[in-house]
Amino acid sequence: MGRESRNTATRRGFLKSGLAAGGALGAAGMANAAGAAGSAEIKVEPWMQELGPGVDAAPYGTPSPFESSVRRRNVEWLTADPVSSVNFTPIHELDGIITPNGLCFERHHAGVAEIDPAAHRLMINGLVDKPLIFTMDDLKRFPRENHVYFLECAANSGMEWRGAQLNGCQFTHGMIHNVMYTGIPLRLLLEEAGVKPNGKWLLPEGADASAMTRSVPMEKALDDCLVAFKMNGEALRPEQGYPLRLVVPGWEGNMWVKWLRRIEVGDKPWHQREETSKYTDLLDSGTARRFTWEMDAKSVITNPSPQAPLNHTKGQTVLTGIAWSGRGTIPRVDVTLDGGKNWHKARMSGPSLSKSMHRFYFEFDWDGKPLLLQSRAHDSTGYVQPTKKALREIRGVNSIYHNNGIQTWHVNEKGEAENVEVS
Ligand code: MTE
Ligand code: CO
Repeated sequence: MGRESRNTATRRGFLKSGLAAGGALGAAGMANAAGAAGSAEIKVEPWMQELGPGVDAAPYGTPSPFESSVRRRNVEWLTADPVSSVNFTPIHELDGIITPNGLCFERHHAGVAEIDPAAHRLMINGLVDKPLIFTMDDLKRFPRENHVYFLECAANSGMEWRGAQLNGCQFTHGMIHNVMYTGIPLRLLLEEAGVKPNGKWLLPEGADASAMTRSVPMEKALDDCLVAFKMNGEALRPEQGYPLRLVVPGWEGNMWVKWLRRIEVGDKPWHQREETSKYTDLLDSGTARRFTWEMDAKSVITNPSPQAPLNHTKGQTVLTGIAWSGRGTIPRVDVTLDGGKNWHKARMSGPSLSKSMHRFYFEFDWDGKPLLLQSRAHDSTGYVQPTKKALREIRGVNSIYHNNGIQTWHVNEKGEAENVEVS
């Protein structure tokens, strides 16, 4: 027996004994587990017989070398030049709702700006009583808040508009991350500058060479936007806008300006490149939807999926995935195993926060026959995630952005999954 197959057998054997000992599963689960190959083995391993590295081995900890496949990846044909490109969050390797900082997908239009925080400034100018320039120290003297929000690029799933294309939820749905931000409500900084009565729009600007700019309506800025300097407790990563980024909860990722250096207050939108030629949806009628800021409810099954096949051929099976909405929470996700003929209510687990990722599970006893897996999110406004067919009927297929259609994975008898569409 080769090394690899022996390991597999041992892992299955361990699972079997674990299930039997735990006794937490129903009769079906026990019976299935008993059918698994191999037998349990507990040995004295080398790591039990020698001392490990001391506490100073890793002043900043990194994952186990056995987890080296858990990493951001790109799609080669989308990466003509890495300074203006995208990579994807390995959502099939993650659980819970928080995206670890080193795994948050990156989307840069001019590479990562390398900024010395001591030299960084944030300016607020335009239609204000008192134009202001803040240092990072100045900003840290304002009251700050903590909020968990998803950021989804409007182009997430964009390559799937015309049909199933990429084999892996990392590539079809991985332009998303979910992070706890620490930041100052933008409202407080605007109050400090004093917005003039005709100040109705904002133009945040990035300090990177792309000078990323987007028009943001004043109501949104006063409602829940943050000027954030920490993510998941530590300083923003350079890739995510160190030392300062705008957080625009529930709205398309492009508006979350990184390396934030200036916010201009104006009386109308600016019609920048990223809100005219980009991030608008050309309809079949020849007209375009624009200012489609809010991200509609969406979900995807992350396991099993093409990069994460099932390692068994029948029996006790855990299905899991993520769901989110730019308009609130996700009280419910449905799951189907047969391409939409029968729907089952998934089990939500973990915090349910507005404009944050949600985690769902569905445990079932797999009969070993092929599966057509789909998930369907319901958000707190009552909106239900549409099929791709329903979406195309309204929006045509010219679009790249805002594809929140239901995703299908075909799972064969071997447990391998593939990206498909059902009509
Ligand atoms: N801000 C600046 N300054 N420069 C950029 O290239 N890219 C935008 C937005 N903010 C961008 C930016 C886009 S299109 C997206 S989807 C998000 O940042 C990506 O954020 P992330 O890299 O943290 O995932
Ligand atoms: Co984007």
